[in-house]
Amino acid sequence: MISLIGVSIDHRFGKGDDLTGIILRAIASCTELPSGLQSGDILVVTSKIVAKAEGRVIAAPDREDAITAETVRVVATKIHKGDGAPGSTRIVQNKHGLILAAAGVDASNTETGTVVLLPQDPDASARALRASIQKVLGISIGVIITDTLGRAWRLGVTDHAIGASGIRVLDDLTGTTDPFGRQLEMTKVAVADQLAAASELVRSKSSMTPVAVIRGAHTWVTSNEQPSARDLIRPTEEDLFSVGTAEARIEGARNAVYARRTVRSFTDSPVPAEVIDRALHAAVSAPAPHHTLPWRFLILVRGQDDSLREELLDAMQASWRTDLAAEGRTTEEVDKRVSRGNILRTAPTVIFPFVDLAAGAHTYPIIDGIDIGHRNDSERIMFHIAGGAAIENMLISIAADNFGSAWISSSIFCPTTMRRVLDLADTYWPLGAIAVGQPTAPARERPEIDVQSLLIRGKSNG
Ligand SMILES: Cc1cc2nc3c(=O)[nH]c(=O)nc-3n(C[C@H](O)[C@H](O)[C@H](O)COP(=O)(O)O)c2cc1C
Repeated sequence: MISLIGVSIDHRFGKGDDLTGIILRAIASCTELPSGLQSGDILVVTSKIVAKAEGRVIAAPDREDAITAETVRVVATKIHKGDGAPGSTRIVQNKHGLILAAAGVDASNTETGTVVLLPQDPDASARALRASIQKVLGISIGVIITDTLGRAWRLGVTDHAIGASGIRVLDDLTGTTDPFGRQLEMTKVAVADQLAAASELVRSKSSMTPVAVIRGAHTWVTSNEQPSARDLIRPTEEDLFSVGTAEARIEGARNAVYARRTVRSFTDSPVPAEVIDRALHAAVSAPAPHHTLPWRFLILVRGQDDSLREELLDAMQASWRTDLAAEGRTTEEVDKRVSRGNILRTAPTVIFPFVDLAAGAHTYPIIDGIDIGHRNDSERIMFHIAGGAAIENMLISIAADNFGSAWISSSIFCPTTMRRVLDLADTYWPLGAIAVGQPTAPARERPEIDVQSLLIRGKSNG
């Protein structure tokens, strides 16, 4: 049988207090513990009195500054939208690795104008308390130091073990069998947290009962001062929820651009239709002039559109041959150039994007002998730029879906060929071809680019 006994202490804790002496005297006068503390008992102590005895009370005109000082990283920020002025709570990781609201900086149960920090090192505090009790009473006990924490998925707070000594904080049941003979694969029970939470049932915050004794739980008491409550903290690399939802969204949005790299080698795996669909939606959310939707896309999927792909690529190649020959290259040189591996023939999916000037580009006639035809060129450039914006959106979306892409220029050089093969109007301008597939290898490291060196400095801005 496990029993929980609350130990009330009528003492205002402060720096330099003899924690061991005060707790042992309180236990000695506790009517529910006539035989005092015994070997195998677990002493549960709220971190508040440990922190106060360690002098961790500071004057804090600004509690937020104190929280910042205790913070290693902000995990999430919760904005409170109430009737009064909007406020916020930072959920942070502190230097002990604990993730908790306001870094555990507490303004309750302390003088106005002061805040209580968590103990300097709660595991060390637990070890020290255990050792000094062992020295005074000659018994071996477990010690847990607790703090009240919120939970990500459940309402309400409960106490957790933030410091421990002489306790098996985790009970690893992996490999044991359940009553039906099934082997448990990865069940580790957070015993120290269970004991901390249970102790709170007899340690109500308002009743000056900062200590509890748990009797009958000796199974989890060890003669070893290790392990520690730090062992309960999930390593960052195993943490599936290392930042808050809003923060993860911001981080994802910021990093999306950098996820895209040109990928020139794909596996045979097809590209799911939904990846292409998302990419198209991303593309058409790009900015475009005159509130138009000037983008058009030809999508060729391997195994479905192979004859059109062949016809188009053969025609593009013939056009390239003509251009190379016109440059004065020998037949041998031309053969060599066009025979290079062509990713567009092998990629699982190829997208040919176009802009159609008929979708809303303005046309400028020659009026009263004044030639403003150059504005027609500008219109075409403007639509091409919008095409580039759409393609970049598309490539980022593909990268966000863990697929790779390569934007290949080829069709840009043979618009008439593209129009002829696809039977398109003269207003269609090809913007290259996008090869899409699953990368065969992770992308190379992105080189550092000195953006300062790319800035144009006019006369007035030095
Ligand atoms: C309009 C355009 C045309 C491109 N054409 C080709 C091409 O024909 N062949 C190729 O291998 N890469 C092509 N690229 C990809 C660039 O080589 C690539 O973006 C550049 O090397 C930077 O690498 P990153 O995309 O991984 O950041 C093209 C890129 C753009 C924007």
